[in-house]
Amino acid sequence: MSSTVDDDTTTLPPPVLTDGIVVHDLHRAFGSVKALDGVHLTARAGAVTALVGPNGSGKTTLLLVLAGLLVPDRGAVRVAGHDPVAHGPLARAGTGWMPDTFGTWDSLTAREVLLTFAAAYRLSPAAAAARVTELLATVHLSEYADRPASVLSRGQKQRLGLARALVHDPSVLLLDEPASGLDPRSRVDLRILLRRLADEGRTVLVSSHVLSELDEMADDAVFLSRGRTVVPEATAGTSASWHVRALSVEALTAWLTSTGTAWQPDGAAATATGAGGVLVDVDGDDGAARLVRDAVTAGVPLVSLVPAAGALEQAYLTLEEERR
Ligand SMILES: Nc1ncnc2c1ncn2[C@@H]1O[C@H](COP(=O)(O)OP(=O)(O)OP(=O)(O)O)[C@@H](O)[C@H]1O
Ligand SMILES: [Mg+2]
Repeated sequence: MSSTVDDDTTTLPPPVLTDGIVVHDLHRAFGSVKALDGVHLTARAGAVTALVGPNGSGKTTLLLVLAGLLVPDRGAVRVAGHDPVAHGPLARAGTGWMPDTFGTWDSLTAREVLLTFAAAYRLSPAAAAARVTELLATVHLSEYADRPASVLSRGQKQRLGLARALVHDPSVLLLDEPASGLDPRSRVDLRILLRRLADEGRTVLVSSHVLSELDEMADDAVFLSRGRTVVPEATAGTSASWHVRALSVEALTAWLTSTGTAWQPDGAAATATGAGGVLVDVDGDDGAARLVRDAVTAGVPLVSLVPAAGALEQAYLTLEEERR
């Protein structure tokens, strides 16, 4: 996972790229609220880039600008080589946009919704029909194709929104909270689909609050805080909480206590497995290796030792520290 914030480009012109997304010193205010206050980022083609930030940090505003749905106050944006303001139709032809909630019209079926968008993108009726059938299958909605879209569940509507974003085979995908409302199976499907789309050479920029999920699907990450792109503090090697589980949690806690190691009950381990686990502050990978060695030497029946938070979550929490 690498950060793709260009933090040293304030005085440079935006780089010229013909694919991917480049954003240079982007600003957008709503009245006195500076929703975007100096955003710099690059999202490369062939990769999934995570857009991470707290509520109100400007993620949706940024995605709306990239989708050509909101005009920025200043700054430069290139999406697949096009400026969404100056070359709106060209940029939108190459961009698939999935909003955080996908509104549908009461009278149209799921298939008709997608056909309407396909027609707007000027697909021929025959091409549109084939494409829509294929996409309904991709998002597992074939069964619901001819029912009114308005009766779809929230998660089904999200999946329809994803299909809509893909209807014109865009090279850049902008997805705002695509996993929200999806059941576990659909989340896995989404992850596999986004990976496939990136492997096909597309640019995928995806915002989500579910950091563990982004951790698994994203190659790069961009962090927003109060409308600005920020670089989180390096977290590697610092002390972090790890889940430790053992066949006998009593033996584990007795040993931890005897070695003077602080531990806390691990609610997640207890509910997920019914077995006992604790949370221990571990000093990086070296600390984890030492803990395993010492526990095994002492005869503690260890089952697993895993970081309590993924890399993205730990990076995110350093941002939250900055906010306090
Ligand atoms: N249409 C609008 N009018 C006024 N203020 C707005 C508008 N849209 C966004 N804002 C403000 O801009 C800031 C950024 O909002 P935005 O929706 O981009 O955040 P976000 O990162 O997507 O948050 P969330 O994680 O909650 O979706 C917030 O302070 C919000 O109140
Ligand atoms: Mg948002």
